[in-house]
Amino acid sequence: MDWGKQNRLARIIKPETGRTVMLAVDHGYFLGPTRMLEEPEKTVTPLLPYADALMPTRGVLRNCVDPKWNVPIVLRVSGGSSIIGEDLSNESITTSVKEAIRMNVAAVALSIFVGSKYEKQTLTNLSTLVDECEEYGIPVLAVTAVGKDMARDSRYLGLACRIAAELGAAYVKTYYCDDFENVTGSCPVPCVIAGGKKMETEMDVFKMAAEAIGQGAIGVDFGRNIWQNPNAVAMIRTIHAIVHHNISPEEAHEKFQEWKG
Ligand code: 5RP
Repeated sequence: MDWGKQNRLARIIKPETGRTVMLAVDHGYFLGPTRMLEEPEKTVTPLLPYADALMPTRGVLRNCVDPKWNVPIVLRVSGGSSIIGEDLSNESITTSVKEAIRMNVAAVALSIFVGSKYEKQTLTNLSTLVDECEEYGIPVLAVTAVGKDMARDSRYLGLACRIAAELGAAYVKTYYCDDFENVTGSCPVPCVIAGGKKMETEMDVFKMAAEAIGQGAIGVDFGRNIWQNPNAVAMIRTIHAIVHHNISPEEAHEKFQEWKG
């Protein structure tokens, strides 16, 4: 692997543990002003010291993140559809590689929608992006978005992750599910998990993160389950301890109470 690509990946996936805690704040690209992300700078700034990488769009990066922060950026570069539009899977590449380089990103991220109406378009978006990024040593994160009619099971997610890896993704973001080891076990590149909608309790989030790590994930890329929590800093610190120090959900709960205080 090219030195530049290895170096960028090592900024995101910490060499000391081989793991990462990414903070996802790209939701506005199809959801608009998501709750608690109406003013991204206010929400994101206190969390940055605990994030191994930040995943924004270019608009939020340019307007709401101080460039003096030394946090690696995984830039969302796909989009083009909204939650009220015809079909969310109708995505294109929305930000050029030149623009990504100008913003000194560590990686770029793009969604694929396997099994959806625009499956082919999103998969060829991925291969085109990988071709362009390889030239400059920029890793591509493929996000396995799940369409309305798709089951979030290990068969579907395993298929989507494997296709992403086959097309050249450097790592994959997917959802946690039963038999998750079948997803990680058949994906030749590292997997991180998304959080999804805010869960009922913190313990649910801690369990999901710990189980995913136990079944081969190399980290998380959480959004709402961190910044929609009233104790968001304690939440990201706790997730960091689960991912990098293998603490159990019970120990995580204790740490969360301590840091919340
Ligand atoms: C959307 C994304 C989001 O970044 C992803 O959903 C992560 O955020 P959350 O943990 O809130 O689900 O990639 O496709």
